[in-house]
Amino acid sequence: MGSIGKEPWITPKSVAVVLAFLMLPSFSSSKTESALLLASCPYSSIFSFGDSLADTGNLYLSSNPPPNNHCFFPPYGQTFFHRVTGRCSDGRLIIDFITEYLGIGLVRPYLGMKNMGGWSVKEGGVNFAVAGATALDSSFFEERGIPVHTNYTLSVQLNWFKEFLSTLCHSPQSCHKEVKNSLFLVGEIGGNDFNHAFYIRKSLVEIKTFVPDVINAISSTINELIGLGARTLVVPGNLPIGCSAIYLTVYETKYEDEHDEFGCLKWLNEFAEYYNHELQIELDKLRLLHPHANIIYLDYYNAAMTLYRHPTKFGFTGLEVCCGMGGRYNYNTLRVCGNQNVSACDDPWKHIGWDGVHLTEAAYTFIAQGFLEGPYSLPQFSTSCVVFHE
Ligand SMILES: *[C@@H]1O[C@H](CO)[C@@H](O)[C@H](O)[C@H]1NC(C)=O
Ligand SMILES: *[C@@H]1O[C@H](CO)[C@@H](O)[C@H](O)[C@H]1NC(C)=O
Repeated sequence: MGSIGKEPWITPKSVAVVLAFLMLPSFSSSKTESALLLASCPYSSIFSFGDSLADTGNLYLSSNPPPNNHCFFPPYGQTFFHRVTGRCSDGRLIIDFITEYLGIGLVRPYLGMKNMGGWSVKEGGVNFAVAGATALDSSFFEERGIPVHTNYTLSVQLNWFKEFLSTLCHSPQSCHKEVKNSLFLVGEIGGNDFNHAFYIRKSLVEIKTFVPDVINAISSTINELIGLGARTLVVPGNLPIGCSAIYLTVYETKYEDEHDEFGCLKWLNEFAEYYNHELQIELDKLRLLHPHANIIYLDYYNAAMTLYRHPTKFGFTGLEVCCGMGGRYNYNTLRVCGNQNVSACDDPWKHIGWDGVHLTEAAYTFIAQGFLEGPYSLPQFSTSCVVFHE
């Protein structure tokens, strides 16, 4: 495995440095001198929940990995890792860039740790995200005749976290101590709840009715995590799925006005925007409920849209994916990346889309940077914090 930290914008912040020392005038009278310190608050670990946008090997290293999952075959992992890792991209994912920036290395997939005996390791945190996971339980989809790809749903992942936590600490106080300096990445999750239904062409009207349930599932997970001591939670929204080659192909249309000026399907992007809007309304409610928690919305939609709107400005080609075969977008549902005889392009760094569903490491770098340094983080993510000091 190669070394991390090649990108110039990566600045590991492992050492706590006092950045400023400000006297509070109102307290500067006599004995009781209080000071306000602006210090760097490094995160000691990350705990992540989600789907293939964040899975760094859980499905791949699970005891029963689905044998035909296309992410388990070359050329997946060809960039950086030079081997299949279970990540659904050519290289690193957004979470890899976040942990790299925080100086905590590559986060371990929970099922890999568990199945390989390294289960009590706590440094750096643990990743519970599973490719194909939904926010809602599988029964929700079974009742509606929608096939699911894994039963490792958000609530299963949350239970794994609780199980893991019980190996670290044995009272609420000691557990709060363990997790208060951790960064919680809650998502992206929920995208598959809609994807599985869109693939089989369920109506938009029906799929829209899932939105409140999906948001409730995410919201109750956030509530539980805060109850367990989580203080900083990052919640990504959905990507502009109308720009994905899979949907541009499955929902191919002869009516050009169904596409926006960048070639994306307007109705699908409008759906993603609607969902993201509802999610942000819920996050506002959670912020009022938990004023001491820092709940950050990570705007995947606008970060990716920036690339789709001005691909050449950022060195990208456009909507055509890197790894695929045929069609207007180099995508064919019957011959997908990872299948025999389907090859990758020579220049993945010039493509936003990797396989029609997932993005390339290059696109993920851009999104991660837009989170860590702005402007796609609301409020802005920061490793600085204000602490009261006597
Ligand atoms: C999910 O669980 C149901 C019920 O236990 C089972 O029938 C189904 O095969 C499982 N699906 C997957 C993808 O594991
Ligand atoms: C892949 O290509 C080889 C050589 O052209 C061919 O024999 C084989 O049938 C192809 N496999 C598939 C799944 O198309």
